[in-house]
Amino acid sequence: MLVAARKGRYGVAAFNVLNHFTLAAVLEAAEKEKSPVIIQTSVATVKALGVQALARMARGMLDAAGVPVALHLDHCQDVELCRRACDLGWDSVMFDSSHLPFEENIRVTQQVRNYARTKGVDVEGEVGIIAGVEDDIAHAQTSLAGYDDTMRYIRETGVDAIAPAIGTAHGVYRGVPVINFDLVGRLAGATACPVVVHGGTGLEDAVFRKLIELGAAKINISTALKQTYVDAMRRFLAENTGTVNPLKLDRFIMDQVAGLVVPFLRLFGSSGKA
Ligand code: 13P
Repeated sequence: MLVAARKGRYGVAAFNVLNHFTLAAVLEAAEKEKSPVIIQTSVATVKALGVQALARMARGMLDAAGVPVALHLDHCQDVELCRRACDLGWDSVMFDSSHLPFEENIRVTQQVRNYARTKGVDVEGEVGIIAGVEDDIAHAQTSLAGYDDTMRYIRETGVDAIAPAIGTAHGVYRGVPVINFDLVGRLAGATACPVVVHGGTGLEDAVFRKLIELGAAKINISTALKQTYVDAMRRFLAENTGTVNPLKLDRFIMDQVAGLVVPFLRLFGSSGKA
C-alpha cells in the first residue's frame, strides 16, 4: 500500500481505532471514498481489549472490507507483544525502541524484523524521539532524527517503513510545530523505504500536502479520532437525555468518526485510489 502511495504521490492515512465502532466507522469512510486505509491499534487498546479478541474482531472486519486495508500495531516497545501480533494476524508492527541508545535501537529492531519476516509481517521503525503522549508512551521533548543515522538505521534493520522524528508531536500542538521538511525530502529521494509522519492531529492542510509532495507515504491520526469520539458521545447524551438505546448512540458516534475520516482521505489524495 505504501509503495503504491509513494508511486502515486498520495498518502495513506492510518487511524488509531479504539473498538468495534471506531474501526467500522473508518472502514465505512474508506469504502465510501474508495480509498486504501490503515487501521492502527495502540498498545493500550490492545491491552484493554485483549490481543486475541482484538485480532479476531479486527481480522474479520478487515478481511470483509471492500478496499485495501492493513492492520498495524502502533508504537510497541515490547518485543513479546510484537511477536504475538505477528502470530495473531497484524499485517505490520511498529517496533519503537527509539528511546534506547542508537546501536541498541538497531539491534533490537533487527530481532523484531527477523521474526516478523518469518510471518510475512512488515515492520515500521522510529529514529529520534517523537514528543507528546501516545496513550501509555510519553516523551516531553523531541529528539530530531538526523539523515545519516536514519539512513543507517534503514539499511541495517531492513525496516519496511521509517518514522523519523521530524518535529511533529503526538497529542494537541501548543504552538506551531517546526518541521524538518528537508529531511523528509532527502530520505524519500535516497531510499525506497516509505516515510511515516506521526502526530497528524492539528497539522495544517498545507503541511500535509507538502509532506506528501516530498514523499511521505503514511500519516498517523489518533488524537483527533479520540476527540471526535468523546465529543460525539457527550453531544448525543446531552441531546437525548431520555434515550436508553445504546445502538443509536453508537451509530451517532460512527457517523461522526466517519465524518472526521473522509476529509483526511480526500486531503491525502487517497480517495478513489482503491
Ligand atoms: P496524533 O495523536 O497527534 O494524531 O498522532 C498520532 C500518531 O502519530 C500515532 O502514532
